[in-house]
Amino acid sequence: MFSGKPVPRHIGIILDGNGRWAQQWGKSRLYGHRQGAKNVQRIVRHAQSLGIPFLTLYTFSIENNARPKAEISGLMSLFERYAKHFAHTEHDQGIRIRLIGNIDAMKKSTAHALRQLEIKTQDRKGMVLILAVNYGGRDEILRALHRFQESGKAISPACWEDFEIYLDTHGIPDPDLIIRTSGEMRLSHFLPLQSVYSELYFPPVLWPDFSEKDLEEAIEVYRKRQRRFGEYKKELSR
Ligand code: IPE
Ligand code: IPE
Ligand code: MG
Repeated sequence: MFSGKPVPRHIGIILDGNGRWAQQWGKSRLYGHRQGAKNVQRIVRHAQSLGIPFLTLYTFSIENNARPKAEISGLMSLFERYAKHFAHTEHDQGIRIRLIGNIDAMKKSTAHALRQLEIKTQDRKGMVLILAVNYGGRDEILRALHRFQESGKAISPACWEDFEIYLDTHGIPDPDLIIRTSGEMRLSHFLPLQSVYSELYFPPVLWPDFSEKDLEEAIEVYRKRQRRFGEYKKELSR
């Protein structure tokens, strides 16, 4: 499907706009989240069929804990339901789940369902689907420092590779492309250390409406970008 430049190795998506989508249709915010969850299945499958090796979905931020209790408990139930479903579906056999975020601080049953999903899919060899749940960039850094202290190592990490091992994203390549739906143009704590050279793309479409075609369009836009990583290369200058 895509010829020439490579497809991104790692795509991160900030799923935004469920609430506005619901409002647009005169439905509850929770209804919007349910539609958003359905769309997760659709986009995950398409990303896998396009051969994307790593896909990260930002599904719940630490700051989202400040939302009304009913919305949070509805979201937790959705996580649990989908985690159980996903662990058993034949279709998704190849997909391996990795979790990033402060999972242990979540509601016990939700944390358990998510961890079970991670364990059940750990030997799968297909696309790695990273779920950022109860995630915050600063929180990840603080937990990384804590892990470093726990390791008992006397010498501070001397280079990025030495520090990276304490992050939730250990072993996962940095995202090449970050998409945030709904037209908002900010990262809201999404992978601040890993996004230093990510290409950013902000389509106006609300998450429940983000289609397979929109994903392909995002990849096309990415493939037209010139990535320099601070270097000067004659062939890259316009
Ligand atoms: C994104 O949709 C999903 C979560 C943050 C859990 P929102 O709930 O933020 O939707 P809007 O931004 O209110 O439209
Ligand atoms: C960011 O969306 C978090 C997720 C999509 C999970 P929000 O809707 O919570 O972000 P802000 O508050 O608009 O920055
Ligand atoms: Mg939002």
